[in-house]
This record gives sequence, C-alpha cells and structure tokens, in this order.
Amino acid sequence: MGLFSIFSHHHEPVELFYDTDVHCHILPGVDHGAADMATAMDLLRREFDMGIRHVICTSHVTEGTFENTRESLTAAYDALCAEVKRQQLPIELHVSAEYRLDDYFIKQYHADVLLPMPGNWLLVENSFQQELLNLDELLFELQIKGYNIVMAHPERYAYYGIRRERYEQLHNAGVKFQINLLSLAGYFGGNARDNALWLIKNNMVEMLGSDMHFAGHAEEISKYLASREWRKLSERLEPHIINDRLTTYWSSPN
Ligand SMILES: [Fe+2]
Repeated sequence: MGLFSIFSHHHEPVELFYDTDVHCHILPGVDHGAADMATAMDLLRREFDMGIRHVICTSHVTEGTFENTRESLTAAYDALCAEVKRQQLPIELHVSAEYRLDDYFIKQYHADVLLPMPGNWLLVENSFQQELLNLDELLFELQIKGYNIVMAHPERYAYYGIRRERYEQLHNAGVKFQINLLSLAGYFGGNARDNALWLIKNNMVEMLGSDMHFAGHAEEISKYLASREWRKLSERLEPHIINDRLTTYWSSPN
C-alpha cells in the first residue's frame, strides 16, 4: 500500500487557491497557442482540473507576428464560448489580450480599440530584448486614461533580473506584476525562477497566470502544484493575489 500511495499521490490534481486564470493562450487559431477548437477545449479542461472556473483569454497581440484585432479575437472567443456551452463545461470565459508594448499597440490604443480585462485591466508584455523607449511615460499615460496596468511575467525579462531596482520603480509607479506558475516551476530557467522568487519575497506579485499555450504547459504546472515548495509559497502569496477580484467586474457572456 505504501509504495502505491507514493505514486498515486502524484496523480491527484492539486487545485489552485484562486479560480481565475488571467493569462493564457487558449483561443483557437489566433496565435501560437491552441491551434484548433479540440485543443482549446482540452486546455480548458486542464484549467478546470486545476480549480480554474473563470478564464480570461489573453492571446498575443504583437506587431509583425500576431496582429490580432478586437474583431479577430472576438470571433475566436464567440466560437469557443459556443463550444463550451455545447459541451457544458462549467467555466466562464472573457476575452482580452496580452499586448506587446510596440507601435502596433500604440496604434490600437490611439484608435481606442483595445480589449481590456474586466475592471479595465490591461495585460501588457515587454519585448524580451529590451524595454520600450519611454515605457514609463506610456504606462503613466495609460493609467491617466483609466487603465489598470498589469505586466505579464516581469520575471522573464533578463534585463530586469540584472537590474532589479527597475522592478521597484515600476511597481512604485502602480504597475502590478503577474508572474507565471511555469517560471516558478523552473520551465523558463534558473534566472526567471530566481526573479519570480525575489518578487514574491518582496511582496510585488499581485497576479498569477498559467500562460498556457499547449498541454505540456498544463502538465508542468500540475506537477509543480503538487510540490512542497508550492504549498509554502501559495500560503505566502494568497493574501496578495487579486486574480479573483477581476471576477467582481464580470459581465457574463451570452
Ligand atoms: Fe502569454
């Protein structure tokens, strides 16, 4: 019995302490996440197994590679909602995006066609090479316009990891940070993991995300959720994490 229980324990799904995923690439066919409807539904079931009941779909909007628009995202979202309803999966969806801060973003912003998350939150990401020139000014302007800013996976930007005072500057300017569970799991390497742990230690993490693109990501996360480290970290994180607050603003689809 002893041996069996050691192995079987790994297959028991561990649920997250929150039920809103604020970062994932599940919309079918709009970026390099889920390629089709069957894959999207499989990823949603994996979200469900982790305890997620609200999914904010944040596909890439990136100049040159994924030039999605409000229309392209909404079309994929409507199709996915219909399938979720048909299969009676008890997960609520919302459509937003992960906006790369680039010229394409600025154009969409000026045209007033952004798709913020509930509560007027914008999930923004930097280039992995460098910050946008005038990043602080742009973020400040967006805040003045009434957007709440959450930066996607700040732990993954190597240029911040070697200059961690930038984390403090941005955070002091009211930018909230969303770290990836995959980073904690070591999926993006030791530096991203160290940065994530440092941000947690310094109470600078307000949101957690799966950033799920494919089934392998969900498997890595599930494995990590069963770890002793996660049990300890989640106790530390729980009072600070506001993922579920976004559900407060929820306007149900349909
Ligand atoms: Fe992402």
